[in-house]
Amino acid sequence: EQFWAIVPAAGTGSRMQTDKPKQYLLLQQQTVLMHTLNRLLSHPQISGLVIAIAKDDPWWSSLEIPADWPLLIAEGGQQRSDSVLNALDRLADEQVGDPWVLVHDAARPCLRHADIDHMIHSLATDEVGGILAMPITDTVKRATMDGRVAETVPREALWRAATPQMFRLQQLRQALSQAIAAGINVTDEASAMEYLGYQPKLIAGHADNIKITLPQDLPLAELFLQQQGG
Ligand code: CTP
Ligand code: MG
Repeated sequence: EQFWAIVPAAGTGSRMQTDKPKQYLLLQQQTVLMHTLNRLLSHPQISGLVIAIAKDDPWWSSLEIPADWPLLIAEGGQQRSDSVLNALDRLADEQVGDPWVLVHDAARPCLRHADIDHMIHSLATDEVGGILAMPITDTVKRATMDGRVAETVPREALWRAATPQMFRLQQLRQALSQAIAAGINVTDEASAMEYLGYQPKLIAGHADNIKITLPQDLPLAELFLQQQGG
């Protein structure tokens, strides 16, 4: 089996409110993006990686990417789903057949090899694929329009979706193009697969695989990297 990583890195990071996109901010003297690429490319099962970079991105060219990294570049799109689809199309151009793809946010630099291992093993004989996710631990409320508690939602069946999200290249391309064409709000790969009626497997991941989104997430990611020892 072949496994490719797909990394959408073409966002502007508007919620982070910094002058450059969050994937170029520093954690332990290294950009968030380099941490993420390292985590994926140093995994022995990953054959290569396609990254989606925004067309007008002035920061990418100043990263020091080792010349021998198996890395392909695609153009970013308007939405995350467009960036991912461009990257999948780029990979399909390579005539690699129908490998597994692990789509992983550039903004999640704390991903552990153990989670990648767990995912690959859990899905080895799976027909559909699956996603890393965490069971919800808080008590969950549904709100009324005016911000009062309407009801408590049983949390037993609720999970927070993370990445990587692992599917077959051709099936995911098809799902994403159809879901995008139908105007579905596709905020992760699983949503597109769900649109076609598939039920991706939930694979419990570590909670330190956070997505850097808000300013307060940066010191948290720093702490997790420190705890993980690099
Ligand atoms: N992403 C992308 N192309 C887009 C939008 C997002 O490749 N058009 C990527 C981001 O770079 C990020 C990942 O998708 O690595 C997850 O998206 P998110 O956390 O929403 O990042 P941003 O869209 O950059 O942030 P914000 O929504 O706060 O603007
Ligand atoms: Mg976004």
